[in-house]
Amino acid sequence: MSSDNADITQPKAANVTMDTIVSLCKRRGFVFQSSEIYGGFGSTYDYGPLGVELLRNVRNLWWRSVVQERDDVVGLEASILGPEAVYVASGHVTNFSDPLVDCKQCKMRWRLDHLDEGQYETQYGPTKRNKEGQIVCPNCAGELTEPRKFNLMFKTGIGVIEDESSIAYLRPETAQGMFINFSTIQTATRRKLPFGIAQIGKSFRNEITPGNFVFRTREFEQAEMEFFVKPGTDDHWHEYWVKERHEWYLRYGLTPERLRIRPHGKEELSFYSKATSDVEYLFPWGWGELEGIANRTNYDLTQHAKHSGKDLSYFDEETKEHIVPFVIEPAAGITRTALTFLIDAYDEEPDKDGTRVVLRFHKSVAPIKVAILPLSKKEPLINLAHQLEKKLRKHWTIQYDETQAIGRRYRRQDEIGTPFCVTVDFESLEDNAVTIRERDSMAQVRIAIPELLDALKERLNDD
Ligand code: GAP
Repeated sequence: MSSDNADITQPKAANVTMDTIVSLCKRRGFVFQSSEIYGGFGSTYDYGPLGVELLRNVRNLWWRSVVQERDDVVGLEASILGPEAVYVASGHVTNFSDPLVDCKQCKMRWRLDHLDEGQYETQYGPTKRNKEGQIVCPNCAGELTEPRKFNLMFKTGIGVIEDESSIAYLRPETAQGMFINFSTIQTATRRKLPFGIAQIGKSFRNEITPGNFVFRTREFEQAEMEFFVKPGTDDHWHEYWVKERHEWYLRYGLTPERLRIRPHGKEELSFYSKATSDVEYLFPWGWGELEGIANRTNYDLTQHAKHSGKDLSYFDEETKEHIVPFVIEPAAGITRTALTFLIDAYDEEPDKDGTRVVLRFHKSVAPIKVAILPLSKKEPLINLAHQLEKKLRKHWTIQYDETQAIGRRYRRQDEIGTPFCVTVDFESLEDNAVTIRERDSMAQVRIAIPELLDALKERLNDD
């Protein structure tokens, strides 16, 4: 095959650099370095006005699809702080660690598995080895130490007395809340297998190599669901959830060619997993995990039953037997998904003033749904524009903007991905109509004001 042909069949990452995304995010108030006026705080980020709307949309779309549209999944909001016993039982105290190596020369610290996988190559070039074939420091080619295990959990203490019993952890995944509450929720809801418990919330990991903006951070948000099934049906449900979750990303507009499903090799599996498939996205730096869908077997319930001394089994009415359910777990990142939507939506096209930057968000993902733009700041016009704004705010997130030329205002909305602009002009006072301008095609249609709400509902509501 010629290289030209090969090019056609190869998926291409979004045509944007991370520098461009980072700068747009700060300039327009999506997300920026936390504690910046104090020099920034290690790999933590604050979400501004547009970022919070974006995150809220991602959360709501996940919740709607995984919980509200189904009759076999219920919700939970468990505490973030947990006692040591939970994480001893779950295996995190012993196993949740990364192999670290230090450079003996420049003292930089690396994750050995990431060195092996070539994850530092974008920044430091191809993985370097010495004459003996051992990996050397990507930064200075110095010799590396033997790997050491470094636990990723944030440890803290509760109460005033510091002893063994006061040790607590910030949760490293939301999942454990679902396992330790399994029996309480099953009894309260009288659910039969299969059924799931879902949760969205913050998790914390002391990542050694955070990076790529909010892709890997120490404080992040997860959306996880533990789907409890009868043993023996687990392979079927695993396949089912991989497909469901893949379709969710497609439904909300990610470019199909930039998505793939990658089953984990045996050596890569987490300590609790029988099989895991990742939904991966082709980021500007290469393929990366967007979500993992794991078959956690009965590992967690068995462990918690053993360590807590409580019966966490399920009574199967059909067979009259007590069983420990298997668990299929789709585990997504809300913050990582928001970043992916941003990257995938980014587009630039030439226009008469230079370049039009457009975030081509799916309408349900877009932080602002409608912008109201009066053509002038004069009285009768802005009165009408404010009336419309007030009415539409009951339905969607709205921005009202009356400053600068209309062309610039359209560009400002394009750059944050607003699907529709409503322009109020002098004729509106005569014909009682406004113009709806669509972001992607820039097509404009005149709509009678009494029909505006329905016209926007038809365009914006997602079914
Ligand atoms: N309960 C299973 C679990 O936590 P994981 O693959 O470690 O599995 C699931 O995490 C998802 O959470 C990832 O696919 C990613 O989207 C998100 N995630 C994990 N670590 C993250 C981090 N340090 N920063 C941002 N997102 C992260």
